[in-house]
Amino acid sequence: MSNPLDFPIPRTCPFTVPDAYARLREEQPAARVTLPTGKTAWILTRYDDVRAVLASPATSADIRHPNFPAMGIGEQEAGAKSRPFIRTDPPEHTRYRRMLLPELTVKRVRAMRPAVQEITDALLDRMLDAGSAADLVPAYANAVSTSTICELIGLPKDDLEFFHDITRVSGGRGSTAEEVSAALGDLFKLLADLIALREREPGDDLLSKLVVDHLRTGNVTHHELLSTIGITVIAGRETTTNMIALSTLLLLREPGLLAELRDEPVLFPAAVDELLRVLSIADSIPLRVAGEDVDVDGAVIPAGDGLIALLGAADHDPEVFPDPATVDFRRGTTRHVAFGYGIHQCVGQHLARLELEIALETLFRRVPTLRLAVPFEELEFKQESATFGIESLPVAW
Ligand code: HEM
Repeated sequence: MSNPLDFPIPRTCPFTVPDAYARLREEQPAARVTLPTGKTAWILTRYDDVRAVLASPATSADIRHPNFPAMGIGEQEAGAKSRPFIRTDPPEHTRYRRMLLPELTVKRVRAMRPAVQEITDALLDRMLDAGSAADLVPAYANAVSTSTICELIGLPKDDLEFFHDITRVSGGRGSTAEEVSAALGDLFKLLADLIALREREPGDDLLSKLVVDHLRTGNVTHHELLSTIGITVIAGRETTTNMIALSTLLLLREPGLLAELRDEPVLFPAAVDELLRVLSIADSIPLRVAGEDVDVDGAVIPAGDGLIALLGAADHDPEVFPDPATVDFRRGTTRHVAFGYGIHQCVGQHLARLELEIALETLFRRVPTLRLAVPFEELEFKQESATFGIESLPVAW
């Protein structure tokens, strides 16, 4: 057997997945890799294999498994303590997921549209009032996504930096278990204070509903509720921040695509899905352990081995998406797996779509002269964090 490749493989172009995925898909659709922790695991690069593994009831997402392919140095040890439900299996996983799903249906999310539009407009007013240049990541992308998740859950919106720092540490691949646990501890402290408040005086936000329907009834413990809300804040913040900033950059670099959206704003929802597919920022989020031998084109991944179902590789499989690196808003991208597949598929996907649509449509409508304020080559991308993104995006108008 050949030596395992080092994983993750950095992107050469921020707008598409690593070049090596195409060769692996052809030659080694299940390839052995060495992770930053020194452990080995398998990566899958074909659309059908990625979906099959994620749909299989034999596949485990339990972070406590010795071969769980954690990507961050301290991720497994900290995760085994805090037990985010994204890294649990049924029946435990089902119990948490059922708590959240009714609050994030298409209908519920549709009702949030006016609030998300209002948040977005207010943040844009502030950015525009402050001058004629800004870093779009903190001033807009992070602000919109953090304020929206705070609105959903019922968290105070006055300290956006606090949430930014927590996710930077908890999602950073170089963070130690102590650093991750300390960051989560800060978040849990804030959430615990808020839970205590809602126990006394419930409102009509998500946290109040979970307190009334699930904590008071004994369906979840206090720690389980903290962990569920904690992972929702973390999963819902960093992802949308990265998508808003990276999509903005892509559209600034592709004036033809931007013109298409300006001429036909009804294309925005389809554009959002195509951007999710092509950018596939959560490429290596689905970390799993094979529960039975998995046969991929003659190579057998033995039961008990760690595997990573690469969503970006699946979303760039030319068998399913011809000419995959090309952005085409008329592709009709309904089959992409940017939100995952199977029982862990993103619970926040309707909210994410709404946020992205409103954030991008509002920005380009209200700031038609928006432009990049530094040479493209100077931009720094987040190669070392759980989801791909951009550190800072200096713009002017
Ligand atoms: C562009 C934005 C987003 C992307 C690309 C994204 C991507 C994903 C992916 C790929 C998964 C599956 C992980 C796996 O299979 O291991 C997932 C799960 C999850 N996402 Fe998202 N997400 C986004 C936004 C959000 C938002 C806004 C929220 C919260 C409102 C959220 C909350 C969650 C939660 C709680 C899970 C765990 C679900 C489970 O394990 O059953 N995400 N997300």
